[in-house]
Amino acid sequence: MNYKNYPMVSRVVFGRNSFDQMGDIIEPKRLNTRAPFIFLVDDVFKGNVWVTSRIPLAYEDELIYVSADEEPKTSQVDELVEQIILTHKDRPSGIIGIGGGTLLDLAKAVAIMLTNEGEAKDYQGWDLVKRPAIYHVGIPTISGTGAEVSRTTVLTGPDKKLGINSDYTPFDQVILDPELTKDVPKDQWFYTGMDCYIHCIESLNGTYLNEFSKTYGEKAFELCKTIFLDNNLSEEESQDKLMMASWHGGMSIAYSQVGIAHAMSYGLSYVLGTKHGIGNCIVFDHLEEFYPEGIKLFKEMKKKHQISLPQGLCSDLEDYEFSTMIDVALALEPLWENALGKHWKQKITKDKLKALYQKM
Ligand SMILES: [Fe+2]
Repeated sequence: MNYKNYPMVSRVVFGRNSFDQMGDIIEPKRLNTRAPFIFLVDDVFKGNVWVTSRIPLAYEDELIYVSADEEPKTSQVDELVEQIILTHKDRPSGIIGIGGGTLLDLAKAVAIMLTNEGEAKDYQGWDLVKRPAIYHVGIPTISGTGAEVSRTTVLTGPDKKLGINSDYTPFDQVILDPELTKDVPKDQWFYTGMDCYIHCIESLNGTYLNEFSKTYGEKAFELCKTIFLDNNLSEEESQDKLMMASWHGGMSIAYSQVGIAHAMSYGLSYVLGTKHGIGNCIVFDHLEEFYPEGIKLFKEMKKKHQISLPQGLCSDLEDYEFSTMIDVALALEPLWENALGKHWKQKITKDKLKALYQKM
C-alpha cells in the first residue's frame, strides 16, 4: 500500500470581514511593480461597491470580471492566460479568484497554465502538471463546492469534463469571510450547499473511506444537518457554519473520492451544460438504491426549503447524446470504484445509466 502524500492549502484566514485583510496578506508576495496581481472576480459583483471597493488594486494590477453562468472551460483558461501574457510585461505576482467554484477553479487553472506550456486540456487528469503554479489565492463568495480546499480544478474540455488534479493545484492562501456569502440567492445557496452535503454522503458511503476522510466527512455532515434541517440558527451562524462545512466536506473527499452523483452529474453537465450544484441535486434525487439514507434526508431538506428541481431534462435527448453522457460519466473510474468497489464494472451497465438519465 502506497499512501498519498497530500498537499494542502498553505495558509488560511477565517472570520467575518477578513476580506479587508487581503491587501496586507498579498502585498509581501508582490515580485516587483511590473508584476501585477490579477483578480478574477465573478461578474455578479460588477457595480457592487461593497465588494469591489475593498479589492486592493495597485501598480499594474488588473481586475477581470468573469461570468460564472457556465461551467469553466479549458478554452476559457487558455484565453485568460493569453490575455494576461499579452497585457503585462512581467509574469504576474499572483492570481486571486473571488467567487464560487467556477471562479476558484479558473484562478487555480490560470495560475498553473502561466508556468506550464501547452493548453489546459493537456493537463486534465491526475498528476500531469510539471511545474509549480504561480502564487494563487482563493476567496469564496458562496459555500459548498469545496473548491477552496481541493487539489483539483474541474474543467470542461473538448473531449471530457475532468479536473487538473495535481500537487500544484491547491491554493497558497485562502480567505474565508462568511459575510461575503450574504447575498447569495436562496436556490443557489441550496444547490451549492447540497454539493457539500453530497460530498459527505459519497465520501462516507464509499469504499475508499478511511478515518482521515471520515472525521472531516462526519463533521461536515453534522453541520449540513444543522444548517438545512434544524430551525435555530441566525443568518450569520448559518453562513459561518456552511463555510466550514464546505471546507470539511472538501477535505473529506481529498483523501477519498466522490461517487455516483458526481460521475453522473459530470455527464449531464458535459452534454447539457448543467451547473455543478443543481446538476448534482437533479442526479442525486434519483439515486435511492445507492444512497438510501442520504436521499431520505435530502428530500426532507428539499421540502423544508421548498425547492423544486427541474424535471424532464433528458426527455428530448437523442441516443448519441445519451451515449456521450454515459461515456463521460463512466470514464470517471475512481468515482465508480469508490462508490461500488473494485468490481464496479460488474455492478453498473450503460443500460442502467441510460435508464437513470431518462428519469431526469
Ligand atoms: Fe462537488
